[in-house]
Order: sequence, then structure tokens, then C-alpha cells
Amino acid sequence: MEDYTLSNGLKIPKIGFGTWQIPEGDEAYNSVAYALEVGYRHVDTAQIYGNEVSVGRAIADSGLSREDIFLTTKVWNDKHSYDLAKESIDESLKKLGTDYLDLLLIHWPNPKALRENDAWKAGNAGAWKAMEEAYKEGKVKAIGVSNFMIHHLEALFETAEIKPHVNQVLLAPGCPQEELTAFCKEHDILLEAYSPLGTGSIFSNETAKEVAEANNKSVAQVALRWSLQKGFLPLPKSVTPKNIKANLDIFDFTLSDEDMAKLDSLQGVKAQEDPDKVGW
Ligand SMILES: NC(=O)c1ccc[n+]([C@@H]2O[C@H](COP(=O)([O-])OP(=O)(O)OC[C@H]3O[C@@H](n4cnc5c(N)ncnc54)[C@H](OP(=O)(O)O)[C@@H]3O)[C@@H](O)[C@H]2O)c1
Repeated sequence: MEDYTLSNGLKIPKIGFGTWQIPEGDEAYNSVAYALEVGYRHVDTAQIYGNEVSVGRAIADSGLSREDIFLTTKVWNDKHSYDLAKESIDESLKKLGTDYLDLLLIHWPNPKALRENDAWKAGNAGAWKAMEEAYKEGKVKAIGVSNFMIHHLEALFETAEIKPHVNQVLLAPGCPQEELTAFCKEHDILLEAYSPLGTGSIFSNETAKEVAEANNKSVAQVALRWSLQKGFLPLPKSVTPKNIKANLDIFDFTLSDEDMAKLDSLQGVKAQEDPDKVGW
């Protein structure tokens, strides 16, 4: 597994295993266990996914040492203050059964409950302070954000001592978010690509199928390869063993500039939701 290096020097495996919508219990346990067995070394979960306990158990039972696995979780929208985020970090550590996280993210920048009078700005500043403290204490090896657009990042920079190491946003063929990704690259913030297969919406796209056929690869593989060639870190989710395995097989080919341009402009694949308008 190849790595990227974050701005603080931490290595992060170039592809991560997504776990959104994988139910707590056997399904989460078995999927993560299989992903680790076939070579993933990076797992992405979140408090709100409700599966931290099974994800943690699968990691503990994998036979791998904890240091060989990169584990991410996220602070949910009801924990946007210094005190609540502090509690939330300890709760995630407990559920995951580990004494440190590799990466902790603020899941969304602008919770519905904090929209009036821009209360979200203080919410993020408070949560971020708790995350910076956890980082200094060694409970977390890197800190970052998710679904942050440029104005959310600029607001965070006003009070942050440490700049986010990562921004995890929707990046998929048809949704390259060029302005945001250029801004993040300028600030040395690694982009993680969530929903890199458009939560499955890419599979019916004819252009994606043509690019896949021309490269003798699957639609999923060319979408994930597109992500890597953009410098993003894709987080594909699957509960299907053959898909879990096949999604790692993306390091032995290169998409041409023409194929990349075709994938940049795919129509009808899932797009980033406006974080200032989401219903949560
Ligand atoms: N930060 C955020 O707000 C946020 C939001 C969304 C997602 N995420 C993260 O990003 C991860 C991935 O995003 P996502 O869950 O939206 O979905 P995704 O990875 O874009 O797509 C998953 C879908 O594609 C199917 N699939 C996967 N590999 C396939 C293959 N090789 N061939 C055919 N079908 C395949 C899966 O079905 P099977 O399971 O049946 O294979 C599933 O239906 C999440 O799990 C989560 O970790 C973060």
C-alpha cells in the first residue's frame, strides 16, 4: 500500500476503506476484517455511522499491530463545543477500543442547530481547540475537517493554532470541486475523496463504462484511479468481498489526459451537498 504524507509528516495509506451505511454488528465487523485481510490499512468511520464498536473489534482481532492501521473517526454535529468535543473524543476512543486515533475530523461545518447568527463559527472554533489539545496529548495523530468549503476553512483559520491536515469532501468523477481542491492544495491540506463511486451512482454512467472498457478495468477501478491521479485519497465503501478486493487493484495502470478529462466532466453522478443547507 502506497502512502501520502500529511503536512505534519504523518504517513497515510493512499486508499481507505469507507464504512458509512455498514450496520453495526456482523456486517461492519466482517467487512472491515475482510478489508484488512486483503490489504487495506486505512479505515474511515464516524460517530454517526454507529459502527465504531465493530470497526474497533475487527481491527483488534485482525492480528495486525495497531500501528500498522490508519484509523479515522469524526465528531458529529451535536458535539460542536470545546467541552462536548472533548467528551466525544474519549467516547470514540472507548468505542473503538484504542488509546489513539490516527485522524479525527469535524464531520460537517455548519450544523442546522448552529446556523442562526453564524453560531457555527464558534462551534467549530471550540471543537477545534479540543482537537488541538488531543493532538498535543498524543490521543490523535492528525486533525482535520470534512465537508468544509473555502469560507468554512477561512473562518477556522481565524482561531486555529494548527491548520487542518485533511479535508474530506465529496470528490468523484463529475464532481472535481476544482476551486476548493486548489485552495486546499495551496494550504497543504490533503483531500480525501468520499463517495468516490458516487455512492453507487457512477455504475450506470455510459461514459464511465466506455473509459473502463478502454482501460480493461472496471468502472469502480477507473473512478478510484481518477481520484489518485488528482492527488486525492479515495475512500470506497463496499460490503461485497469481490468488490472490496477489486477496489485495491488500481496501482498498475494510468489514465490518459483524455480519459481524465472525460471523467472530470461526467454528468449525473452524485454531487457535494451544500453544507450550509443540509438538514442535519
Ligand atoms: N464525511 C462525510 O460526510 C462522508 C459522506 C459520505 C461518505 N463518506 C465516506 O466515504 C465512504 C464511501 O462513500 P459512500 O459510502 O457514499 O459510497 P461509494 O464508495 O462512493 O459507493 C459505494 C457503493 O458502490 C458499490 N460498490 C463498491 N465497490 C464496487 C465495485 N467494485 N463494483 C460495483 N459496486 C461497487 C457498493 O456496493 P457494495 O457494498 O454492494 O459493494 C455501494 O453501493 C463512506 O463509506 C464514508 O466512509 C464520508
